[in-house]
Amino acid sequence: MWAGRFQKTLDQKADDFNSSIRFDHRMYAQDIQGSMAHAAMLGRQGILPQAEVDKIIDGLESILRDLNEGKLAFDMQAEDIHMFIEAELTKRIGEAGKRLHTARSRNDQVAVDIRLYLRDEAEEIVSLVKDAAWAIVEQAEQNAEVIASGYTHLQRAQPISFGHHLMAYAMMLLRDIGRIEDAVKRMNVSPLGSCALAGTTYPTDRAFTAQKLGFDGVMQNSIDGVSDRDFCVELMSAFAILMMHLSRLSEEIVLWSSWEFKFVELDDSYTTGSSIMPQKKNPDMAELIRGKTGRVYGDLMALLTTLKGLPLAYNKDMQEDKEAIFDCIDTVKMCLEVLAPMVRTMKVLGANTYRAAQKGFINATDLADYLAKKGMPFRSAYKIVGQIVAECIEKELVLDTFPLNEYRKYSELFEEDLYNEISLETCVNKRNSEGGASPKSVLGQVEWVKKELTK
Ligand code: ARG
Repeated sequence: MWAGRFQKTLDQKADDFNSSIRFDHRMYAQDIQGSMAHAAMLGRQGILPQAEVDKIIDGLESILRDLNEGKLAFDMQAEDIHMFIEAELTKRIGEAGKRLHTARSRNDQVAVDIRLYLRDEAEEIVSLVKDAAWAIVEQAEQNAEVIASGYTHLQRAQPISFGHHLMAYAMMLLRDIGRIEDAVKRMNVSPLGSCALAGTTYPTDRAFTAQKLGFDGVMQNSIDGVSDRDFCVELMSAFAILMMHLSRLSEEIVLWSSWEFKFVELDDSYTTGSSIMPQKKNPDMAELIRGKTGRVYGDLMALLTTLKGLPLAYNKDMQEDKEAIFDCIDTVKMCLEVLAPMVRTMKVLGANTYRAAQKGFINATDLADYLAKKGMPFRSAYKIVGQIVAECIEKELVLDTFPLNEYRKYSELFEEDLYNEISLETCVNKRNSEGGASPKSVLGQVEWVKKELTK
């Protein structure tokens, strides 16, 4: 391609090292799309004769068709996808192919390609996140009445609807969708026409190509247009946060499917057995989602680190952006595709979550509230209930079985109605504050999230 300046060809190992076609070939459709818009602009501006432009566009269309249909193989000897398509075009249409690169550089070309590619992928990922959120919402709705313990420090804390716990994740995923969409909005401006770094002396029309490619506008500084990959970093950050949420949910699913908890039973299609222990049913999918989260963080760190010391404008280091972001996207998609059906088919074992809620004195706050509502300052009530809990533990009782005459030794305010007040059903049903843990609140959240998801 640059034979003019060189007397020797590139060393084979150096050539392999330099080449990116083995991973950037996946952007072929976007590369062709960008080139078509560029060619159309060159014709419209009178930079190239329309007859040549028509040839270029026909040629690009035939290449796209052949690649889509598997009739044309990528040449792994090419330096990258951009060089491959340009060379193929020239092979097919001759001289006119050599004119396509007028008023353009691979630096703005690659920046356009990645944005177009990520725009499509981000849209797909958003729909996968929505599907995962739906799965969670459906489970929450079905299990709104299921009583469970909420935890802090992984210690039983307060009674909640199991659906309430699940809905927390639905809210997180909604924000993840918002973060991805925000990043896409900032990314959707065209770097095409920045050329190598300094723009061009040709009378190009950047707004035209931007509009043709569905961008919302053009980047206002040509050096910025070819130098930054902040849009990749931003999207990957949103994906990293999303994975952090998926990983926490996965961790809970791993815990919940253990015999120690047994709050859920995963469907056979999302579990594996052991090669030696016949009794095992392992939550491999959840574990892998948790594990792959580290990998996505790694991809983000890799790109941030690659970029941090780069002088403006383009540097070859930036070719490293692709493997990181492609791996990130592939991983996130795989995780979502497995997580959604795994959650959807999971069986919540309400009897077990209820049994766990009966132990651990999780209605102790409600007992203190009982005294406080009768006029005792909350701090004093808190202390008395603490003493009662200690006595119960010693006598192997729970608050629900501790006799009234014993209660009354602590305070005259205790009456028969306390047992109803501290029953798990009452404790959960009464947590009706906005965003609270009652079934009624959960169903309200379900409606709210469904509306957000169908916006
Ligand atoms: N394959 C390169 C990349 O992905 C394309 C841009 C190359 N530009 C250049 N001046 N070498 O970054």
